[in-house]
Amino acid sequence: MVRTGLVAGNWKMNGSLEQNQALLTAVVAGIRSLDRVNCAVCVPFPYLAQAQVLLNQTHLAWGAQNLSQYTHGAYTGEVSASMLVDFGVQFVIVGHSERRALFGESDQLVAEKFKTAQTAKLIPILCVGETLTQREANETESVIAGQLEAVIELNGVQALANAVIAYEPVWAIGTGKTATPQQAQDVHVFIRDKIATRDNQIAANVRIIYGGSVKADNARELFAMPDIDGGLIGGASLVADDFVSICKAAQ
Ligand code: G3H
Repeated sequence: MVRTGLVAGNWKMNGSLEQNQALLTAVVAGIRSLDRVNCAVCVPFPYLAQAQVLLNQTHLAWGAQNLSQYTHGAYTGEVSASMLVDFGVQFVIVGHSERRALFGESDQLVAEKFKTAQTAKLIPILCVGETLTQREANETESVIAGQLEAVIELNGVQALANAVIAYEPVWAIGTGKTATPQQAQDVHVFIRDKIATRDNQIAANVRIIYGGSVKADNARELFAMPDIDGGLIGGASLVADDFVSICKAAQ
């Protein structure tokens, strides 16, 4: 891997104070000796304070799973970028397919959230990916190009220098159906080439991680592909031994 790998857990809407304490303590201990991969967990908002206390001064960074596109004001139920900064957050996921599909987030809204995150010096993990129907209709590249272009148009290609892209085929999320390493590699190359048409150096340096049923037993072969720089891990990030094994596979 030419770029430093990143393995980020996305807990989604899971956890409790008690479970998190055990999970985070075990993960911190398990990754202590890893010095060639960055590891992070994106936890639900209410647990950011707990993550900050438990993970401060450890090798495990923490992040959020969403943020508001607005900076402050009368937006009931929303959480701003500056609030995340108050809790030491480094990463924030934007445009996860569950937000796009279940909460109606458009490419434009995702681009705005990306901008709000970067303005607050947070590192956005921008999720892109196609549904099964889109893949079967040979629309994978056009869908991903559209998701990426919306962000580049609003933020400029330079913005990708301080961001992470996560390719997550929707059909592989939580289904146990992982993309083959070659399928994922092909899309990662497509994304990198697309960025290279604007800026070669940013394309070469941006981390593109893969998400979708990454497990302890398939992580190594995925991360061995030259353009897969780590993973965004859902279910397996809730089990300490599995998440630690996946982090080790990216080292
Ligand atoms: O953000 C993570 C992805 O949605 C992958 O989830 O590993 O449970 O398939 P999964």
